[in-house]
Amino acid sequence: MADKSEFSVSRRGVMIGGAATAMAAHSPAEAQPRKATMPPEPTTMPVTLKVNGKDRALSLDPRTTLLDTLREHLHLTGTKKGCDHGQCGACTVIVNGQRINSCLSLALQHDGDEITTIEGLGTPDRLHPMQAAFVKHDGYQCGYCTPGQICSAVGVLDEIKRGVPSHVQADITARPQATGAEMRERMSGNICRCGAYSNIAEAMTEVAGAKA
Ligand code: FES
Ligand code: FES
Repeated sequence: MADKSEFSVSRRGVMIGGAATAMAAHSPAEAQPRKATMPPEPTTMPVTLKVNGKDRALSLDPRTTLLDTLREHLHLTGTKKGCDHGQCGACTVIVNGQRINSCLSLALQHDGDEITTIEGLGTPDRLHPMQAAFVKHDGYQCGYCTPGQICSAVGVLDEIKRGVPSHVQADITARPQATGAEMRERMSGNICRCGAYSNIAEAMTEVAGAKA
């Protein structure tokens, strides 16, 4: 029978042995050269945007969205970031006369473009008619979606005026009218978590000068 003492290895002995094995496996001779882990310097590119009537020259990381450019670089925080995925409409601005979700496009795609944000539509002293109508009809509660709703509403009425068809038209060759159904369909990309929809529709109806 084997002497019991042959197998009696102390706990300290096991730990020292384990550490020695680990060090041998990572000895300098076998160590892989470490790659530099510093991130590369960001590359920036020049872009000029005409925002609310003023030329703004910027040098941006090409991955910067128009939304982040407006909020973070130009400090125009009226335009809101809701989902950052094109699903809520909070970031809606007007570019060259058409509404877009600014979270879905890169600033560099808009070199030379004219961009209107909520700050450029009107001022507290001289509200745009749509801003005034939202106030009059209580078209907001928390107000987070409101800048996007207002920019979108202005864009919607312009689309209707220009004869741009929508899904609710039975005849897409007919001239669209500013009906309640038409405006609700066109505003469907703007989500309001507070549910101020009917007041928004009333505000739009007043500006459109039409019956909902
Ligand atoms: S933040 Fe752009 S659509 Fe939601
Ligand atoms: S007013 Fe609160 S999300 Fe629209």
